[in-house]
Amino acid sequence: MDLATQDAIAQSGILAPSADNGLRYYFEYQDHAIVIWADQEFVSNPERHRRVLDLLAYGAAVENMLLRASELGFSAKLSWFPSDDPLLIARLDFQANSGILPDVLAHAIPDRQTNRQVFYKGAPSDAQRTRISVELEKIPGVRLIWLEGAERKLALKLIWLAESARFQSQRLHQELFSSIRFDLNWRENADFGLPPASLEVESLMRPMFKALRHWPLMRALNLIGLHRVMGMRAAYLPCVQAPALALVCSSLQLDQAALAVGRGFERAWLCATLERLALQPMAASVVLPLQNDADQGISSKARSQLAAGWEEICRGDTPLMIFRLGSMDSTAAPTLKTGRKPLSSYRLSR
Ligand SMILES: Cc1cc2nc3c(=O)[nH]c(=O)nc-3n(C[C@H](O)[C@H](O)[C@H](O)COP(=O)(O)O)c2cc1C
Repeated sequence: MDLATQDAIAQSGILAPSADNGLRYYFEYQDHAIVIWADQEFVSNPERHRRVLDLLAYGAAVENMLLRASELGFSAKLSWFPSDDPLLIARLDFQANSGILPDVLAHAIPDRQTNRQVFYKGAPSDAQRTRISVELEKIPGVRLIWLEGAERKLALKLIWLAESARFQSQRLHQELFSSIRFDLNWRENADFGLPPASLEVESLMRPMFKALRHWPLMRALNLIGLHRVMGMRAAYLPCVQAPALALVCSSLQLDQAALAVGRGFERAWLCATLERLALQPMAASVVLPLQNDADQGISSKARSQLAAGWEEICRGDTPLMIFRLGSMDSTAAPTLKTGRKPLSSYRLSR
């Protein structure tokens, strides 16, 4: 397999979404394979929700790579964790296959992006919803639930609760604000981390939002309930008005579930991109219940409320991703498309 083909496949991998735009993996090219290595933080971070967020991102990256390979005429054998080395995430063995049918989802890889505009426009049609569900559920063990009626109402409550906790707990506040690139202005792009412009914060709110990165200020304002207001603006408001809200869950064991949901969710997102639909993931309410007291993040009371709430909806399956969806016109387009470092930053030398 030539270098250009391997580069094209790996490049599609890094275009996949990742929590906070923090790509924690490297590619090693072999003759007919690409091996994916995690960075040290993946194994050294003891927090289960961080591990799951990374696994979701690995799943999405690998899905993009498989799709791009199919477009280039290669079938691939995927092996997750192929050795005892916890840093060795996946191995993709490629084989030229003139009969392979390219998957149309591959076309959407360069265009997919997170849209954090508060107001989406119209609802996806029934046919669009069906196409998205079908693409997602091509990954075994993964299920999509369109949240409606009482389930949607409950989900909104859980989403607000979890997003408020991100501003209320010092540990989660630090996690949230440390990923935002405040060294940049409100127009600049970033090649890692979250450029402030991608957050779609209203102009008048920007100085205040930036000041809230200082924990003593946030803590003081939380005494009058600011965390609830921030949770409302960051998640409840965008979700309550969203034309569609969906939950992805899995029946698999946790690590395998996160990898599979990462793959399925990426397929759903690429399908939505082809349908010209806007999408924003909202992971907090489903991953924070995975924490434990030692993480000093979400309170045990909030954690059990979240776990009990999702159990009512998922009935035995593990919820691993929430997203909102709607149609987009030019006024609801994202301000910018978050950048990536060059592929060379993610390649180990041969
Ligand atoms: C596992 C995972 C969790 C994410 N959680 C959120 C989230 O809670 N809120 C949000 O706005 N974006 C979330 N995102 C989107 C990422 O921030 C986004 O993919 C990343 O910044 C790169 O930008 P792009 O998707 O436009 O390429 C998540 C993405 C992944 C893969």
